[in-house]
Amino acid sequence: MPDITTIHNAFYNRFGIHPRLIVGAPGRVNLIGEHTDYNEGLVLPVALNRATFVAARNRTDRTVRAYSVDLEAEDRFALDWIERSSEQPWSNYVRGVVKSMLARDLPLLGADLLIMSDLPLGGGLASSAALEVAVAYALQSLNGFNLLGEELALLAQGAEQSFVGVPCGIMDQFVAALGRANHALLIDCRDLSYQPIPLPPDVRIVVCDSGIRHQLVASDYHERRSACQAALRILRGSLPRITALRDVSMAQLNAHGHLLPPPLLQRARHVVSEIARTQAAAAALIRADVVAFGELMNASHASLRDDYAVSLPELDALVAIAQSLDGCYGSRLTGGGFGGCTVSLVRLGAVEAFTHELAARYHMQFQRTAHVLVGVPAEGVGRVAIY
Ligand code: GLA
Repeated sequence: MPDITTIHNAFYNRFGIHPRLIVGAPGRVNLIGEHTDYNEGLVLPVALNRATFVAARNRTDRTVRAYSVDLEAEDRFALDWIERSSEQPWSNYVRGVVKSMLARDLPLLGADLLIMSDLPLGGGLASSAALEVAVAYALQSLNGFNLLGEELALLAQGAEQSFVGVPCGIMDQFVAALGRANHALLIDCRDLSYQPIPLPPDVRIVVCDSGIRHQLVASDYHERRSACQAALRILRGSLPRITALRDVSMAQLNAHGHLLPPPLLQRARHVVSEIARTQAAAAALIRADVVAFGELMNASHASLRDDYAVSLPELDALVAIAQSLDGCYGSRLTGGGFGGCTVSLVRLGAVEAFTHELAARYHMQFQRTAHVLVGVPAEGVGRVAIY
């Protein structure tokens, strides 16, 4: 984490005045439950000890100035005229959140915002959700209102969907807002109820960044989401009571799957089986059965690779290497896919050798550097300093 004084000083150097507060919102790694959130299913992410920080101060006028330290870029816009920016796409997350707040009639003044992150941007750890949630939380703190975590998450998701144009689910924003230290969060994406589940003390979550950034993530994501909707429409012909793939059981899919042309059957099969796996994984975690949990992670990866088709050779290789190493209970790609990260559950005593071997073998196979981090489940968004 960048230290607070560094963030404070960066704000002062940029704006010539001290910030009023600094907030941080975590990135996330999803343990299981992939591409289920927009099908009203279950997900099981943890908030990470990597975050996006926003130092902020109100202005007396109706201007927002946002400076990204990592991108060395500044954007400036008026509260009364917020359009999508094509020159500064990163700022659309900020603009979108501000616009969503104004659309809810929340009373906002202008603000100076300085953004600094230790999350890899676009690296599959939900850096955009962390930015949205951090900006929303900073603005609400400055302007004296207090939305619930759920409301913040929905507001941030709405901004990403309508303003940035990515039809994402609720998982990333939700865990950025409501993550719990030392716990994973079982989120029911239908009614947004959630249950923190403690992680056993003798395992670690190892996140490995493949270094691959796919250009077409948004359009592939869109395509998968549409495939789920198309499968749902067809299945409703014989199962009129279903309103989401969440409602379809494996038995029903087996009985009616012949109605779905490829690849819709495969896409639906992933979603239906993944929701069942997530439920089983949560139960395994509650009884601290890491062996059963790991097997479900492995099955999740196979399903994402074969049925949902969102993996890549590099991710498959990272997962296969991880699964072959001592002390690894399970491994899978995490997040939307097409690049980004894998997540592995590893026995505490084996972590050091595991991370070393994983990076070394990946490099040998692809001549690429894998960045490995041991994720410590962290709290959701909050104030880290107030002046
Ligand atoms: C991205 C989206 C999430 C979720 C995952 C896949 O991270 O932002 O809402 O759909 O992909 O599980």
